[in-house]
Formats: sequence, structure tokens, C-alpha cells
Amino acid sequence: MIVPHSSTESTPVRTVRKAVVPAAGLGTRFLPATKATPKEMLPVVDKPAIQYVVEEAAAAGLDDVLMVTGRHKRAIEDHFDNAFELEQTLAAKGDTVRLDAVRDPARLASIHHIRQGDPLGLGHAVLCARRHVGDQPFAVLLGDDLIDPRETLLSRMLDVRERHAGSVVALMEVPEEQIHLYGCAAVQPTGEDGVVRVTGLVEKPSSQQAPSRYAVIGRYVLDPAVFDVLERTEPGRGGEIQLTDALQELATGGTVHGVVFDGLRYDTGDKADYLRTVVRLACDRPDLGPEFMAWLKEFVGSLAGSGAGEEAGGRRLAA
Ligand code: G1P
Repeated sequence: MIVPHSSTESTPVRTVRKAVVPAAGLGTRFLPATKATPKEMLPVVDKPAIQYVVEEAAAAGLDDVLMVTGRHKRAIEDHFDNAFELEQTLAAKGDTVRLDAVRDPARLASIHHIRQGDPLGLGHAVLCARRHVGDQPFAVLLGDDLIDPRETLLSRMLDVRERHAGSVVALMEVPEEQIHLYGCAAVQPTGEDGVVRVTGLVEKPSSQQAPSRYAVIGRYVLDPAVFDVLERTEPGRGGEIQLTDALQELATGGTVHGVVFDGLRYDTGDKADYLRTVVRLACDRPDLGPEFMAWLKEFVGSLAGSGAGEEAGGRRLAA
């Protein structure tokens, strides 16, 4: 059931209120930038990547966000906290624009932090959230996938949960040669546009073993039943406790749906994807875009004939 705040407010109050954001990874692909800075704090234009994720959760009506972090992640806590001295300085100068920018992260939702302890995998990170989440359905948002703020993917997933119960994963069709980078879903149609029943899931299959080209992208709405399954899920691919493996068990019981997404998704997971994301989002910014795009066109023009641009497709879909 979706209960609107009031007729004048657009963000619905939902039965799903909590989001879990796993953020304990070491960020080794971005060393040395991530030696002392969490990868989630790398700027995408002028906001850390993780802020986009929390904004997405808040826009879908989720007002409680639990970060599952690890060592060296204090900067994430600080970012979503008040910054008294900075705020005072900006207030004294009357710089309300920057003051709002500094205050916004802490206002987005009630933000909590726990530590994963041992990096035993995504499934284990989600299990760490059990006590905080309790016996309620909840969302999981992975920080490497940014969904364009104009998209309504998470809201659609929450609607599917409200209608069908069980768990919901976000799926995106990817080229065959990319499926080994993702969890992959076997699906059946439901008769509902953009909604499928998930009959099986496999983590990072080879293209020969993949049951489809539907990749699980990093958005989930999970039934609390997943916790009992995760408790007994053995380490799988890469020796890690995989969320995909726990969802495979739930899918066998017929309680997992997929929402098919074909909108704008940006991948910040590796360096080239990250650069594409920054360029794309910078172009979209009303304050930066026009000037930046003019320069970019000139720059791309200067590359013409140099052979650059032939690999513009990238490793994953995304940016
Ligand atoms: C994780 C999940 C995988 C999913 C992917 C989405 O993998 O294990 O099932 O498809 O996120 O980005 P990772 O990319 O963290 O290795």
C-alpha cells in the first residue's frame, strides 16, 4: 500500500522504509586514489558517488539508510553528518548556496552506519544489516551503479513489491559478452509490461552458461526471508557469500520478480566507466554543461583522425 504524505507532496510514504548501501569494498581498482579515500567518496562532478545513491533512495520515499562500511570509511560518516565549523563559516559569509550543499547530505534521510568486519561478500554485507532492518522488506542499492535521477526504477520496484510481495531485482539486457560481469536471471513473462518472474539466478556465468542476457544491476527490494537464507548460504563465486545465491533459493520458491530497466544507468565501477559517467553527468548539468560541452566538442574534433573514439562502446552498457 502506498500512502501519500498529503495531496500536495509527491514523495509517497511506503511500507518499505529502509535502504541498505553496502560500502565496505577496498576500491583496489582506483588505487592510489582510494588508498586513504573510500571509493564511494570519489567525486562524480562535484558530489561523492554515494550521495547520488542516497538521493535516489530518498527520492523513492526511503527515509532510513544503513551504510555497511569497513575500515577507512570514516569520510562517509563525516559526509552525511553536520559540519559545524564549515557551516558557521559559510553562514557568516552569507554563502547560502554552498551552505545548502554542505547541509544537504545530512538532511536526505536518517543515516546509520555499521561495519562489516570481514569482507566476506555482498551477501554477508546484507546479512550484517539484519538487526537494523528487522522483519521488514528493505531496499539494497549498490554504489557502483548510478541510476539517472530522472529515472523511477526504484519506485517501480517498490510498486512491484507492494503488488506481488516477495523480492524484486532490477534487470537490464546486456550484450552476451558482458553477462559474465553480472548476476544473470532466468525469467518468464508475467503479462505485465516490464515485469518478469525470476525463475533462477546465477552469479557471473560464462556466456555459454548464462540463462539469458538479463543482468542484475545493483538495485534490489528484498523480503526479510532473505536473511534466513543468507545465514546458511555457503561461500560461492570468488569464495564470497553471494547475494545472488541466496536469491536463487528464493527464486526457486517462486517469490522473486524482476523489473526490466532500459533507462540511463552509469557505472562507476572501473576507471573508464567512471570517466564516462563524469563526462555524461557534467554535460547534463545546467551550470556546467553548456561551457563543458562546447570544449568537449572542440576536443573530440581535435582527436578526429587520430584513431580515438573507435572503442567508444565501453566494457559495460552504462555511461
Ligand atoms: C554485484 C553482484 C552482481 C551484480 C552486480 C551489479 O557484483 O554480485 O550479481 O550483477 O553487483 O553491479 P560486483 O559488480 O560487485 O562484483
